[in-house]
Amino acid sequence: MTIDNNYVIEVEHLTVSYHAKPALLDISVRIEKDQLVGVIGPNGAGKSTFIKAILGFIKPDVGTVRINGRSAQKTKGEVAYVPQRGAVDWDFPITVEEVALMGRYQQIPWYTSPSDEDRQAALEALKMVRMEDFAQRQIGELSGGQQQRVFLARALAQGSDILLLDEPFAGVDAATERAILDVLERAKQAGKTLVVVHHDLSTAAEYFDRLILIKQRLYAYGPPRLVLREDLLSKVYEGRLRIFSEVLKGGES
Ligand SMILES: Nc1ncnc2c1ncn2[C@@H]1O[C@H](COP(=O)(O)OP(=O)(O)OP(=O)(O)O)[C@@H](O)[C@H]1O
Ligand SMILES: [Mg+2]
Repeated sequence: MTIDNNYVIEVEHLTVSYHAKPALLDISVRIEKDQLVGVIGPNGAGKSTFIKAILGFIKPDVGTVRINGRSAQKTKGEVAYVPQRGAVDWDFPITVEEVALMGRYQQIPWYTSPSDEDRQAALEALKMVRMEDFAQRQIGELSGGQQQRVFLARALAQGSDILLLDEPFAGVDAATERAILDVLERAKQAGKTLVVVHHDLSTAAEYFDRLILIKQRLYAYGPPRLVLREDLLSKVYEGRLRIFSEVLKGGES
């Protein structure tokens, strides 16, 4: 087995099924360091499943996922993750600071409490997403966009070089979307690799260095201009071509 250090995430022939029904079929992609990668595809395409397989949460039927050359099953917990909004119980009684601190739990031995360094890292992360003033608030008392930023802070506090985000822009206003994108770009500049599930095709070319277009299978992977092609999109999004022509026009400007 050869390990190529240029790739931080290597997915080969990934096939994942739920109840014997394949959600992902034979997906192979290699993601280089310092990239902001978008994952696009319609509802039910397998985007969240793809992220969970990279995290090692789901065992593939076939294929492998390697993180920095090691099996994803062995790197569980090392890759930072912001789950899709619907997957989180927002009524859980916990403060903003405690959520950010959860990002450090991987580093905190079970027999100790968080150190000053852990608290500092959590606070720094909250500052990055401009939520430090809310540190003592209950997470359930925040707006959707604020909650999303706190979850991003949790992932940043973890200090991982790889961040996986499942629709971080869902349900946030334009200003929050900008703020989140800004944080992602700064993380990239700091040497992190980010894989982000995104559903807005009109901003995909602007936001990402590479796009992964999936619907059960991999339809395209590469620079946005090579992925946002009318023929590919019409195959994947079936019969919503009017929207695509707008996306494509937008991509050319
Ligand atoms: N835990 C599960 N058990 C059974 N089937 C599942 C499970 N999770 C996902 N699926 C199915 O697998 C397929 C892919 O789901 P997935 O959540 O990965 O799609 P997605 O691209 O993230 O969709 P969305 O845009 O709606 O978030 C869907 O058909 C879904 O119904
Ligand atoms: Mg999803």
